Amino acid sequence: MSVTVKTPDEIERMRVAGRLTAEALDMIVPHVQPGISTAELDRICHDYITNTQQAIPAPLNYHGFPKSICTSVNEVVCHGIPADNKILRNGDIINIDITIIKDGYHGDSSIMVFVGEPPKHAERLVKVTQECLYRAIDIVKPGARLGDIGHIIQTHAESNHYSVVREYCGHGIGRVFHEDPQVLHYGRPNTGLVLQEGMTFTIEPMINLGSHKTKLNKRDGWTVTTADGRLSAQWEHTLAVTADGVEVLTARPGEPWFKG
Ligand code: MF3
Ligand code: CO
Ligand code: CO
Repeated sequence: MSVTVKTPDEIERMRVAGRLTAEALDMIVPHVQPGISTAELDRICHDYITNTQQAIPAPLNYHGFPKSICTSVNEVVCHGIPADNKILRNGDIINIDITIIKDGYHGDSSIMVFVGEPPKHAERLVKVTQECLYRAIDIVKPGARLGDIGHIIQTHAESNHYSVVREYCGHGIGRVFHEDPQVLHYGRPNTGLVLQEGMTFTIEPMINLGSHKTKLNKRDGWTVTTADGRLSAQWEHTLAVTADGVEVLTARPGEPWFKG
């Protein structure tokens, strides 16, 4: 495993990429309405990222991924492919995952959005999943270990009778979209890599209402769904370890880490 530590100059570029990622997510939220297709959301994001932000949507052509963002609706865990025939309906929950490259560096973040009025059980899953991410972010600092992050996420999810997806994880990020280390969303305290100032990685828990088991769509090679067809939620941020804690590079206005 080769974990890179970023220089202050690299972190500054990641701050810019992270801010653009956050801004693209905030831009798309009001478009998420019953009746819109996920392909339309993709087109709006593609235009905004390439024209307004003068940046690159990292997913497009990444290992053959055909679109610029991932849109994962209801039982889709991650890597949903935007499609013209996928029309959002009242009560759906959708994860929008945006990764942009600016000046050679990546920002990667995802949010859950309600389409119209969510059912209570969906609202609760989405809230607890965000709490999993937030609790994990709050323990990031030099000396903390990756197992501590996994453990705090797993504990919060399972104490709410949810399950943690095992097959997909957070990741180091920088010039490279997915680099070491792997950031598991389950684990044991005081195990795994010891965090150091300058490390940059994502935390992106995928939490299921039912079983943790997943299924990969063999036809498209990308779409991951829950094996039992029940709901899944995910939130993601890109972080940098600082001298005394954490900087959330993709923080949005209203989040505790946002710096105007
Ligand atoms: N953004 C996803 C992540 O959080 C990765 C998407 S890869 C793609 O790591 F090819 F599906 F876009
Ligand atoms: Co990611
Ligand atoms: Co992502």
